[in-house]
Amino acid sequence: MKVQKVLVAGAGQMGAGIVQVAVVAGLQATMIDVADEFVAKGMAGIEKQLGRAVDKGRISADKRDAALGRITTGLDVSAGADADLFIEAAPESLVVKRGLLENAAVALRPEAIIATNTSSLSVTTLAGFVARPERFVGIHFFNPVPAMALVEVVRGAATADDTVAAARGFCEAVGKTPITVKDSPGFVVNRILFPMINGAAQALAEGVASAADIDTGLKLGANFPMGPLALADLVGLDTTKAILETLERDLGDAGYRPCPLLGELVAAGKLGRKSGEGFFTY
Ligand code: 3HC
Repeated sequence: MKVQKVLVAGAGQMGAGIVQVAVVAGLQATMIDVADEFVAKGMAGIEKQLGRAVDKGRISADKRDAALGRITTGLDVSAGADADLFIEAAPESLVVKRGLLENAAVALRPEAIIATNTSSLSVTTLAGFVARPERFVGIHFFNPVPAMALVEVVRGAATADDTVAAARGFCEAVGKTPITVKDSPGFVVNRILFPMINGAAQALAEGVASAADIDTGLKLGANFPMGPLALADLVGLDTTKAILETLERDLGDAGYRPCPLLGELVAAGKLGRKSGEGFFTY
């Protein structure tokens, strides 16, 4: 199946990013969230990003306008029930995702694909909330979505081969490189990346170096585009902590336990860029 219309639940940084790359690639997209203000914020972010792309000469103003014209918005799945593909990019809460997936499974055509952008929940568990788990798949984008070339296509226990193929085709159509991954904690990238971020937080907590110097160390000493602490701030410290907790619990390995400093920052509401402060101040 070739995806032409996508319905994205969640207008946060991931959801809006997915909508942006979809419409720039010529697809139709509907973006929904629980309140008008979230939808408006997501749309403003997309308009800002595409405005920058025009200023840099990456796309023409006409192409930008056409892309924006392919977006519709709403407050529930009925706003885009004719979609070929539904992607939930809601907060990492099983309860929230369950409600969304159950509604999508009822509202969408039976042949539509239902996907999750989860980074820390089991795709096979989430597939239990839809009537046709063979049509369910993980489509895990990276942050910031427009700038990151990779997508992990995550095969749950019941995911059918043609669902994986359609998900990979969608990723390629929006300009990304998919890799196919078995449903397992942290998939490939987060399983390897987040222990490194945790190590940076631990080094900071032990006073090995300042946050700025730790990040400079990894940027200049390992050629990372940004340091691990700045990256945690970009991802969100709450999400970072949730991913590490999943790795620790589901792999049964205390080596993944989130550094206490991470928990302290989250408890203090310092969630990174989105709250204005994390390891760094924004
Ligand atoms: N939103 C959208 N686009 C953005 C962006 C943002 N917040 N920040 C940068 N970009 C885009 C720019 O528009 C630009 O696009 P262009 O090439 O078409 O003009 C491109 O990214 C490069 O941006 P800049 O030149 O301004 O900045 P840099 O060269 O410093 O790159 C970066 C910024 C792409 C964020 C780079 O620092 C980077 O790659 N950092 C690492 C990001 C990373 O590792 N992400 C993965 C996190 S883990 C994850 O997402 C998994 C999840 O489960 C938590």
